[in-house]
Amino acid sequence: MSENFKLDLARRPRRLRQKASIRSLVQETWLRKEDLIAPLFVVDGTGEKEPVESMPGVCRLNIQDLVEECSALWDLGILAVALFPSIDASLKNDFGDEADNPDTLLLRAVKAIKAALPELIVITDVALDPYTSHGHDGVLNDSRDCVLNDETVERLCRMALLQAEAGVDIVAPSDMMDGRVGAIRAALDSSGYENISIMAYAAKFASAYYGPFREAVGSAQAAGAKQLDKKTYQLNPANRREALADAFLDEEEGADFLMVKPAGPYLDIIRELREDTVLPVAAYQVSGEFSQIHAASQKGWLDYEKCRDESLVAIKRSGADLILTYFAKEIAASL
Ligand code: PBG
Repeated sequence: MSENFKLDLARRPRRLRQKASIRSLVQETWLRKEDLIAPLFVVDGTGEKEPVESMPGVCRLNIQDLVEECSALWDLGILAVALFPSIDASLKNDFGDEADNPDTLLLRAVKAIKAALPELIVITDVALDPYTSHGHDGVLNDSRDCVLNDETVERLCRMALLQAEAGVDIVAPSDMMDGRVGAIRAALDSSGYENISIMAYAAKFASAYYGPFREAVGSAQAAGAKQLDKKTYQLNPANRREALADAFLDEEEGADFLMVKPAGPYLDIIRELREDTVLPVAAYQVSGEFSQIHAASQKGWLDYEKCRDESLVAIKRSGADLILTYFAKEIAASL
């Protein structure tokens, strides 16, 4: 090519990429601490922190350590946590009866956090999987091949009421039963909890990316199967329209937030939901999305911090207002 070869271009998009300062000036999407929600795992007793092997840096914490962690998160500027209990296998049974125990681990954890940090927003999961011996989010029929919908919803309403009584700000049904948002809303309202919000896992896919989480709460071990099959209630990853239809039902039934889960592989769903609802949209960057970045960077195949930050800013760019992520603490510390 000759040295005086010149394109006659009116537009040269690279002008706005010449140096860091101009790149920042035109950056469209920023991560903010206020957008991040930290998922946390709690265990009973007074034992040491229990590292979750497949989730580097993530531990199951006893209630005292959990409160300390919440306080550290709050000091860093994180405004909300989502709690998941990992209960002893001896407390699990087919019906998940422990979920009805008014003094169950999760409720004690909520009360302890609220006593120490009343302003921190506490979100609790409404689903039976931490409590069932089979690891499903609901109760099974007699032949054990189907999760019963309406019977499960009745149980979820009871769980949500106990969580409200314990002082949570937001209940988050993650079970994908039909009609549960409306039923939970009615149950809360009729008991005087009209100010407790519902963050609906509105488009939750039957994803293989939940593997490390199931190790963390012990639902995979409980099931005795590596891949617990939740395809009769969670969404088919191939279906976009079905996901949106299910999410809109949650909105009609009274959800205050709509969540998409997982996040990274479903950015198209987040985008579409953001454009079609006026509610806040949350995205859950799940355990497998977190673990894969750790695993590849441990092998030296990916740059850990750059991939972590890119994964999150991409979720923001797709339209998520809030992101549940196991990276919350370190991102808050880095901002
Ligand atoms: C179950 C629940 C799951 C997650 C949150 N709530 C797993 C599942 O559906 O089996 C997954 C979160 C993660 O992978 O980080 N109610």
